[in-house]
Amino acid sequence: MSDLAILGAGKLGTTVARLARSQGLAVDVARSGDPASIRLIVEVLAPGARAVAPPEAIAGAEMVMLALPLSKYPSLDADALAGKLVIDAMNYWWEVDGRDTELAHAEPSSSEVVGSFLAGSTLVKAFNHIGYHDLADQARPVGTPGRVAMALAGDDAAARHRVAELVDRLGFDPVELPTLHAGKALEPGHPAFGAALPADELDVLLR
Ligand SMILES: NC(=O)c1ccc[n+]([C@@H]2O[C@H](COP(=O)([O-])OP(=O)(O)OC[C@H]3O[C@@H](n4cnc5c(N)ncnc54)[C@H](OP(=O)(O)O)[C@@H]3O)[C@@H](O)[C@H]2O)c1
Repeated sequence: MSDLAILGAGKLGTTVARLARSQGLAVDVARSGDPASIRLIVEVLAPGARAVAPPEAIAGAEMVMLALPLSKYPSLDADALAGKLVIDAMNYWWEVDGRDTELAHAEPSSSEVVGSFLAGSTLVKAFNHIGYHDLADQARPVGTPGRVAMALAGDDAAARHRVAELVDRLGFDPVELPTLHAGKALEPGHPAFGAALPADELDVLLR
């Protein structure tokens, strides 16, 4: 059982795992292949997190974060993720994801595309617009003046609030956008992408 399962053991996944462990959350981290190959890195970067295979990570998780390259989303097990609250942290990045994909030209937000694929899951888009260095360096306790804000987006208000609580616990002021579609504003090419700013300044970029 875990509070958070993270699919993707790269820069973002291990950074979030470390933040979550620092708050005492039970965390599982998975890559696509043999989890033995990430055991050491997970132990070093996020002490106390478990390196497991995706099915095990998903099965016992209260929330599942997608921290893998966006173009790999069709490799996700939609049946296993059905019924789960899924946090989509993935961004379209042409150097990684390729230029000539549906995602490169998608009119909806990339999370709406992923959400259609994961039709049985409840999707919230979060952890997209802040780079992993800033996540690692800028996390602060609630009430700290100038605390950095993180925007998140989703159609399901209850799921959004739960992810907002996670964002807050991990060190950032949550700013909720009411639909997955509105989450387009958090994607590369939009003003808020890359922003690590307090809520009032982030709001200006989101408007
Ligand atoms: N880096 C950032 O600052 C940042 C910030 C916000 C959002 N993001 C987004 O977060 C995602 C990850 O970025 P990153 O920089 O962390 O990438 P990364 O360092 O390249 O790591 C990607 C990880 O995903 C794993 N992976 C690939 N397919 C998988 C699957 N089917 N199931 C589970 N794990 C899988 C990879 O391992 P294997 O290939 O060995 O499975 C690797 O551990 C991207 O979509 C990116 O746009 C990144």
